[in-house]
Amino acid sequence: MKKLDDYRLQFDGRDYLPIMIGGMGVDISATGLALAAARLGGIGHISDAMLPTVVDQERRTSFVRDKLQKYKFNVASADKSMVKFDLDALASATRLHVDSVMEAKKGDGMVFLNCMEKLTMNNPLGTLKTRLESAMDSGIDGITLSAGLHLGTFSLIKDHPRFHDVKLGIIVSSARALNLLLKKAARTQRLPDYIIVEGPLAGGHLGFGMDWADYDLKTIVADVVAFLAEKDLDIPVIAAGGVFTGTDAVEYMELGCSGVQCATRFTITRECGLPGPVKQEYVKAVEEDIVVNMISPTGYPMRMLQQSPAIGSGIRPNCEAYGYLLDKNGHCDYIDAYNAVVAQNPKEVKVLDKTCLCTAMRRFKVWTCGHYTYRLKDTANLLADGTYEQPPAEHVLRDYLYSTDHQVHRPPLKAHIV
Ligand SMILES: Cc1cc2nc3c(=O)[nH]c(=O)nc-3n(C[C@H](O)[C@H](O)[C@H](O)COP(=O)(O)O)c2cc1C
Repeated sequence: MKKLDDYRLQFDGRDYLPIMIGGMGVDISATGLALAAARLGGIGHISDAMLPTVVDQERRTSFVRDKLQKYKFNVASADKSMVKFDLDALASATRLHVDSVMEAKKGDGMVFLNCMEKLTMNNPLGTLKTRLESAMDSGIDGITLSAGLHLGTFSLIKDHPRFHDVKLGIIVSSARALNLLLKKAARTQRLPDYIIVEGPLAGGHLGFGMDWADYDLKTIVADVVAFLAEKDLDIPVIAAGGVFTGTDAVEYMELGCSGVQCATRFTITRECGLPGPVKQEYVKAVEEDIVVNMISPTGYPMRMLQQSPAIGSGIRPNCEAYGYLLDKNGHCDYIDAYNAVVAQNPKEVKVLDKTCLCTAMRRFKVWTCGHYTYRLKDTANLLADGTYEQPPAEHVLRDYLYSTDHQVHRPPLKAHIV
């Protein structure tokens, strides 16, 4: 019977474990998680979402405070068009973070950066270019372009000295989106090095509408594999979204994939950046708790636990400090939703339509999760005090590699565990 460890993912003739740990912002796929994947010979992701605040917390820098200080006068205004990111500060924050991750990296694997196009930051092209080029300056092994079509992204960074050496991948949810990207990428004499095909059961934002349940990852993967064969293109395909067991992974390898990208099973590991009590919420969740809604101001559906504290909260837009979702005109849908509620009833501000995603993600108040989060309780030991033990990332990764028959294994039971 085949297991995932029977396969290898190849880049430039080198073998890697055929498993990537997916990028999870903001700092959910934390440094330790990415480094664990690389140490074991696989591929881990850090996320570049809101790096200035992540770096502030790690290193006591003051990127967020400085930005807020500069634009404090504007806090009560609905017009956020002048609230801009200082590109030098953004570059410094990115370099500080990526430098420290790459310096700490050990083992034969790689660390990639997950970079979301929909973080438009009131200057979509300038901030995206800065984020990508600073990460390349700091020696990131690869970049996964996500949350958007990224039709202009290859051109944006084509003059960077590492453009042809950094691994560049894209997350798509259809062969059609891939076709568009490939046409644009061809103009830069460079194709992606890998393609992550993400289906509707993933965590975070979905590349589908609210009809997501009508789609199925296996069908999309088969489409993408056939499309690449037809074009005579040999680019590794990685399947993502709902790959919960090693056997699920093997099924995708048999369909022609070169690897899988997994996230949900790693959300409750010791190395994951979620706070401990939030990990307990994930592991305790039942199927009915997992919902897909439209409260993200990005306009994309997002999957989350319905207990997420941010749902219905009415905090004032925090764009002067954050502002990662401001479009190129300085607009974010949460600002409209908030102002409409305040105009109706300023005493009790409860915004149901949208959420202030920057603040909510930074404070771990939107509990975004994959569809199979309700199965996490099968993967962790229940302790005598009624909480679940956080499995080490290494255990989860090895379980993917060696398990068969759709089994999942908890870490070895210790004496104090019921
Ligand atoms: C908590 C969480 C946060 C996520 N955040 C992001 C993100 O910031 N950017 C992104 O491209 N994908 C994000 N994802 C998607 C994952 O990277 C991954 O592709 C997908 O969830 C894999 O499916 P699985 O969770 O069923 O294993 C997130 C997933 C989870 C579970």
